[in-house]
Amino acid sequence: MEKREMMYEGKAKKVFRTDNEDLLIVDYKDDATAFNGQKKGQILGKGAVNNVMANIIFQMLEEKGIPTHFVEQLSERETLVKAVTILPLEVIIRNVTAGSFSKRYGVEEGRLLARPVLEFSYKNDDLGDPLINDDHILALELATEEELELVRRYAFLVNDALKEFFLEKGLKLIDFKIEFGKTADGTILLADEISPDTCRLWDVVTNEKMDKDRFRRDLGNVEETYQEVLSRMKKQG
Ligand code: TMP
Repeated sequence: MEKREMMYEGKAKKVFRTDNEDLLIVDYKDDATAFNGQKKGQILGKGAVNNVMANIIFQMLEEKGIPTHFVEQLSERETLVKAVTILPLEVIIRNVTAGSFSKRYGVEEGRLLARPVLEFSYKNDDLGDPLINDDHILALELATEEELELVRRYAFLVNDALKEFFLEKGLKLIDFKIEFGKTADGTILLADEISPDTCRLWDVVTNEKMDKDRFRRDLGNVEETYQEVLSRMKKQG
């Protein structure tokens, strides 16, 4: 596999073309941003942690019947993935109140929701990723009805699988964000990453925050926490 020119650079990853137009290489960075890029920093070792962790999770999800872009890990920070066009939607599922949900609805963080909540945000940094509903998505033709239905179904399946997976590692899945992409032949795949950057994970025993909120909120022990989450991921069981 030949790594060719960079196609795209995001806040946490670079994406490179390869000699096969159906395959891309993602290269995870240590850069961290928050609040739509207003807060910037680095979390040393994060790129490697997120790469390995996302790959462990994508393989677990594939085994449960959720198609993902994952093909093969190439190095500590690089992974070969199927080329997709990312749907301009951030798909968020919340099990427990936190973050922008708590702020928006005036509820304390840490309340178990009576049922999981799915939210969509329109993926657009200039607009600050505004919340968007199914009607908006269909009216703006950001996805078709069939795609939207599939995305919802996959998102709840991912939630069930991730909740169980993290609980075995002593972590409560509070909420998470995922993204989907479309291959050239129109297949919808889970893409982007699943990592402490994109999930809220609280220790089952201490309720300690084990995710990017440590960076967002200046809670300290950021690097150590990412390493701890990775070492829990690698333990069997
Ligand atoms: P929020 O409470 O700030 O809306 O975040 C909900 C979840 O989405 C949380 O697990 C963090 C994740 N997230 C991202 O992955 N990227 C983002 O840009 C934001 C704002 C949140």
